Amino acid sequence: MPPLKRMQWDQRVSVGVPEIDRQHQILFSVINQLMDLHEEGATDTFDILEQLTHYLNYHFHTEHTIMLGSDYPDFGDHSSEHQKFIDQVLGFLDAYENGKSPLPRELLTFLHEWFVHHILQTDRRLGAFLERERKNKRLTAPPE
Ligand SMILES: [Fe+2]
Ligand SMILES: [Fe+2]
Repeated sequence: MPPLKRMQWDQRVSVGVPEIDRQHQILFSVINQLMDLHEEGATDTFDILEQLTHYLNYHFHTEHTIMLGSDYPDFGDHSSEHQKFIDQVLGFLDAYENGKSPLPRELLTFLHEWFVHHILQTDRRLGAFLERERKNKRLTAPPE
């Protein structure tokens, strides 16, 4: 088996919102830790998985708050992508007996691919919207 491709954060996956970018970097590093554990053949991944699910909820909540606070028109589609993803991850974890075997490789490649795709397609659309909003406000703001 070739080694799993690690998640790498660079400007290409930047959303342009510092808080979201910071959280993505943390998520990338948690996923990379899971990949390390997988390759070491570790079976007890409970702590890191818990960290991942906890941080995922926190991250999605942050994005939802930003979307609602800016009247983002695509809130419905964006948040249902998050929900579908959570359901898929939980489906994987349901089938996985922690402590008995290493995490399935398919879960790790799924996490990797989902994140890159979601960030490039969906989070960046939100980032572009926020950027446009900022510019519009600057244009319409009364002179100080
Ligand atoms: Fe995100
Ligand atoms: Fe998102």
